Amino acid sequence: MAEFDPHILEEKAVPPPEGFSRRARVGSLADYRKLYQRASEDPEGFWSEQAELLHWFKAPTQTLAWNPPHARWFHDGTLNVSYNCLDRHVQLHPQRTAMHWEAEDGQRVTLSYTDLYEKTCRCANALKKLGVKSGDCVTIYMPLIPQLAVAMLACARIGAMHSVVFGGFSAPALSDRMLDAKSRVLITADGGYRRGRIIPLKDTADTAVGKCPQVEKVLVVRRTGEKIKWHEGRDVWWHELVDAASSLAPAEPFPAEHPFFVLYTSGTTGKPKGVLHTSAGYLLQTMWSTRLVFDLREEDVYWCTADIGWVTGHSYLVYGPLACGATLVMYEGAPDFPVKDRFWQIVDRYKVSIFYSSATAVRAFMSWGRELLEKHDLSSLRLLGTVGEPINPAAWKWYHAIVGKGRCPIVDTWWQTETGSILISPLPGATPAKAGSATLPLPGVAARVLRMDGSEVVPGETGYLVIEQPWPSMMRTIYGDDERFKRDYWSRIPGKYFTGDAAQCDKDGYIWVLGRVDDVIKVAGHRLSSMEIESALVSHAAVAEAAVVARPDEIKGEAIVVFCTLRMGFSADEQLRAQISDHVANVIGTIARPAEVRFADLLPKTRSGKIMRRLLRELAHKGSVSGDTTTLEDFSSIEKLAREVGHDEE
Ligand code: WTA
Repeated sequence: MAEFDPHILEEKAVPPPEGFSRRARVGSLADYRKLYQRASEDPEGFWSEQAELLHWFKAPTQTLAWNPPHARWFHDGTLNVSYNCLDRHVQLHPQRTAMHWEAEDGQRVTLSYTDLYEKTCRCANALKKLGVKSGDCVTIYMPLIPQLAVAMLACARIGAMHSVVFGGFSAPALSDRMLDAKSRVLITADGGYRRGRIIPLKDTADTAVGKCPQVEKVLVVRRTGEKIKWHEGRDVWWHELVDAASSLAPAEPFPAEHPFFVLYTSGTTGKPKGVLHTSAGYLLQTMWSTRLVFDLREEDVYWCTADIGWVTGHSYLVYGPLACGATLVMYEGAPDFPVKDRFWQIVDRYKVSIFYSSATAVRAFMSWGRELLEKHDLSSLRLLGTVGEPINPAAWKWYHAIVGKGRCPIVDTWWQTETGSILISPLPGATPAKAGSATLPLPGVAARVLRMDGSEVVPGETGYLVIEQPWPSMMRTIYGDDERFKRDYWSRIPGKYFTGDAAQCDKDGYIWVLGRVDDVIKVAGHRLSSMEIESALVSHAAVAEAAVVARPDEIKGEAIVVFCTLRMGFSADEQLRAQISDHVANVIGTIARPAEVRFADLLPKTRSGKIMRRLLRELAHKGSVSGDTTTLEDFSSIEKLAREVGHDEE
């Protein structure tokens, strides 16, 4: 399956700015290579040295216990995650700003490390009063407000797991996740704001809790002040319980492998999987990578624009930066509300020096024009980052030239919910960047691009991205489904971690991630499953059969296209089209709303009855199907790979 992409082989490297390299933690490619080699020769020695970054109640004497595919890292050590993110900074610099929060309506709050610590302690005590114990899983369904970070840190403080569900998910998506996690406590808010509209989170939460008999308590933050339904005995106001609780809550030690959080993500079936991360390995590698990849310093103002409902928000808005004692910015709203230069106002106001966003955001900025940036002083920026989907070279170059004014290195960071932290990325002072490539694996990361038979690809050939050795922040299992963990990640190329991504490697060893080989769709960097959307579709009374594919989208990377056949008695009209779209948004969330719904008399199928998604992809992409549809050779390399992996039809 040798597919050669000349663009990948020809892209010129952009060296890191000299001034940046001079003061960076890793200042040259040669130093990176030395570090990489040191880590691959003795991974355990390497990671046990890095482990000194954390505060341990009992320092580990063991580094890795590897019983493939199950890893335990630092397992005889004990620590407390929230102590690492708060207490130790409070001891050193109590008044340092931990967080600047800005609401969509312009309201602003600044919290010092002491403020954040005290709020976390109060919340920890409140959760205990609600009966939350170590090992329980608390579901959190909130807007992007400081209480969300407080709630997470409070769970960590008392050894409870959290499962944060993105505030854009609907009631059925929330209840599925609460049921799977067996949460007895839900933390939510009366509502949130999105582009000036109130999102009625509590209403949605009420509907979801109605399907979850195990939920005993719902802790509610008052955010909008709108009138909400109140369930006496079950619902508790945050401002009554948390604000009245004691601000002292000693951080207890927990074992390194104590379960930390579950984060549900979409996979290749209709059922989302609960990716389980544990304490020390996750925290260590997120903290370590934050320092290395973002070159984070005490004087930086760091802004990751992700929502905490996704893994980027967990690792690089909350845990990585706070473990480093950084000053971060959190912004509640959308980039274009009420004005399209909202982000640049924020950069200017707080003098943001590190800006980490998505490729979709960059493409949107590009389409809105450079004039919007010119109104603001962006000279505080010194490093830019991107994540979540491949960034096309044109968008990369615009980001570099227009946002970074050619002065700022760009870190194109590749990773996944499952990997916990960034695994492939340039080191900003060391690695010459190539527009569109995540470049080289971080030290300690054995990333390879392989053929299905386990052999290495040649430069320019498309293969599968795999990780050959365990790493500290790797997922430990799928919550409640270890078999699926083994099957999905460790058996496709036996003994190696299978990422689900197609990639190429160029002659310099740079990795170019091309996209997924399974049924995962990335809309604006948000991870969705075509199977999940299909099951939502067939739950609509009019839909007989449905197939969901992605087509390229200029801004969002991918867009959802639905093909469906209708049951007898329903007519294919505009009204039904809108109804079906609304239905998907109601079942999953507005992020899953299809860009297009197409009606068909029949869906194309193979002789064995499987839907030919490849044909539909081409149809969605080009509007028609070319080539010989009986041999079906005329498709892109990723689709061929998908077939080989067996995720797809035929
Ligand atoms: C994709 C997001 C290209 C990839 C942190 C991966 C990327 C999936 C990049 C994980 C990148 C992430 N370049 N593709 N820099 N970063 N991806 O779990 O397909 O939401 O498998 O984690 O996003 O998505 P997830």
